[in-house]
Amino acid sequence: MLFANVMKTILVTGGCGFIGSNFIRLLCAESEWHIVNLDKLTYAGNLENLAGLPKNRVRFVRGDICDQVLIGKILKEEKPWAVLNFAAESHVDRSILDADPFLHTNVGGVLALLEAVRANPVDRFLHISTDEVYGDKEGKSPSTEESPLLPSSPYAATKAAADLVCFSYQRTHGLPIMITRSSNNYGPYQFPEKLVPLLIRNGVNGLDLPVYGDGKQIREWLYVEDNCRAIFDVLTKGKVGSIYNIGTGEERANLDVVHAICEAIAERCSTDSKQIRERIRSVTDRPGHDRRYAIDSSKIRTEIGWQPRTDFASGLYRTVEWYVSHADWVAHVTSGEYRNYYEAVYDRAWGKGMRNTF
Ligand code: NAD
Ligand code: DAU
Repeated sequence: MLFANVMKTILVTGGCGFIGSNFIRLLCAESEWHIVNLDKLTYAGNLENLAGLPKNRVRFVRGDICDQVLIGKILKEEKPWAVLNFAAESHVDRSILDADPFLHTNVGGVLALLEAVRANPVDRFLHISTDEVYGDKEGKSPSTEESPLLPSSPYAATKAAADLVCFSYQRTHGLPIMITRSSNNYGPYQFPEKLVPLLIRNGVNGLDLPVYGDGKQIREWLYVEDNCRAIFDVLTKGKVGSIYNIGTGEERANLDVVHAICEAIAERCSTDSKQIRERIRSVTDRPGHDRRYAIDSSKIRTEIGWQPRTDFASGLYRTVEWYVSHADWVAHVTSGEYRNYYEAVYDRAWGKGMRNTF
């Protein structure tokens, strides 16, 4: 159990997305906390992600984090102990196609939240940031919390901007800011635009498996439940005014991740992995693509005592298992707008179709 005997109310934003919904599920299972979930329900937000949770534990408010009046009203009504900001436009490729919603939500929305909290104080303001703010770490040592911010993509630039705005509100207005910066998450309820769920969906459905460029880019993989436990630990045991990197050290080249996905699908579906691997295609690379992310997460391990519980192989198998047994969820979230997005990235903007180079 996380914190069973202490009753608290918290405001979570973006709780209908991937990490936010996993966080709310964990709190419902392992605490008695009351959660208010403010979410705009963009393409990435889905109320199905919270299906089955008790209504008396989770209050849902549909709204925009840019709406300072609405946030002020919620803070006055609920008097939460903490605000956790998960809400964001989160996909790098979409920020390349159109950066505008990223500026709106990831910077403007954070400013509106901070202003609302300034007028209606809370004990903790935990902002969920990312290792992408440190930029490309190819040939460099892993980033510590003190490393410079060198974001590459429009997405990463908006996240870095928000981190700076948060700490400016701590210094100037005394707000109780905390920031987590995690590496790449994977697990249940992730929208199938990101590498792991997109490749599982395509692998299971007999479609091509697109790998950007040479596939040698490196990411550090973190099972989402481990990130959620880390966020909870930072919230309850971390120091106000601190940043905490959250990572596993499990660095993998993209092509190795894709091969591991093929093996896991073959095992789960009792098929031949060779037939799935034959559908791997190199597609035109993402513009400005960072070659490597790597973070030093010794601070959260030594100061707070957190460590990941799930290694990459077992986390990936659990993730494949979840997607295979939630085919209706996948079909639902990939209906409608998804087709246009898919064509823009894979068929139009970055090249004419798939190439066969692997
Ligand atoms: P996601 O895209 O799955 O979910 C985002 C959620 O925010 C959705 O429910 C969406 O409806 C909501 N939202 C978007 N704009 C909003 C607005 N203006 N007002 C209210 N709600 C809004 O994202 P995710 O992958 O769960 O990421 C959550 C957070 O974690 C983000 O801040 C992201 O930058 C950060 N992060 C993600 C990863 C990762 O690997 N996914 C890693 C590090 C950090
Ligand atoms: O590092 C943390 C970040 O991880 C988060 O801040 C972001 O919100 C999250 O989206 C993620 O960003 P990435 O760009 O690293 O994740 P993505 O899943 O989009 O891509 C992972 C790697 O796989 C990257 O090198 C690009 C590559 N890729 C991705 C897709 C979607 C492919 O080769 N093919 C694909 O089809």
